Amino acid sequence: EVIMAKKKTILDLYKMKEKGEKAVWVTAYDSCFASYAEKAGMDMILVGDSMGMIVYGYQGTTPVTMDMCINHCQAVRRGAPNTYVIGDMPFGSYHESVEDSVHNAVRFIKEADVDAIKLEGGIAVEDKIKAIAQAGIVVFGHVGLTPQSSAAMGGFKAQGRTTESARAVINDALAVYKAGAKFVLLEGVPEEVCAFVHKILPIPVYGIGAGADTDGQVLVIGDALGMYEEFIPKFAKKYADIAGAATQGFAQYVKEVKEGTFPAPEHKYKISGDVSEFDRLFKEMEEEIRL
Ligand code: KIV
Repeated sequence: EVIMAKKKTILDLYKMKEKGEKAVWVTAYDSCFASYAEKAGMDMILVGDSMGMIVYGYQGTTPVTMDMCINHCQAVRRGAPNTYVIGDMPFGSYHESVEDSVHNAVRFIKEADVDAIKLEGGIAVEDKIKAIAQAGIVVFGHVGLTPQSSAAMGGFKAQGRTTESARAVINDALAVYKAGAKFVLLEGVPEEVCAFVHKILPIPVYGIGAGADTDGQVLVIGDALGMYEEFIPKFAKKYADIAGAATQGFAQYVKEVKEGTFPAPEHKYKISGDVSEFDRLFKEMEEEIRL
């Protein structure tokens, strides 16, 4: 008997909050790693615009386009058909008109079959969140440290560390909720600030670099699996060393080809028939060809 895994819905995620069960998510951008995340029992996968750094080698997330995001969401959906997948709206895709923002959010659902979208910002984008939510799309708000506006913040800097800044983060989270977001993610804020938001909001509150008083955690795959070493945030924890394993594997492959130990007999196809017929063929053809 084949037991089909049931895909999580928003209702399951709300039930988890009710029961105090933490939701765990990670970013992924391709079908291979998405399938590993699904096998490992990940509750959600975010196809984050952190792909700008991890997949494309940019310094930040702002060059990422809608088409890149849609392609990577499609790949992740193919690799993790039973996982709750969130598409990340890239910089510029919800910064012009409300109509444009809804159009781009709809593309994620129609073209990439994701379950929800995420966008950065609070009060500044409440009109966009409202319109997208009214179109029937599940929205994750993202407040605190918002990487797409890191230039305006003076870099990837923690937010909410003074009472004035904490008030702004809390007001942003409140605005996101009131605009109709069904989830909020707090990034790069002190645990106390996140705990307060978690206490006052009735929707699930998740964190990355926001302490443990949350309904769940997300990590960027590059940090979690040791794949990206250009910049390692204070809050990251490395659960595997993919960079080390891959570099070591490649180095061994280079060595074996150069010394002639790869390919070995077990990697080679065998002639079908008589070897002497092949010897005759090669001899004949060598005479015919004569380059
Ligand atoms: O794009 C991303 O990886 C993110 C994480 C910081 C959660 O938004």
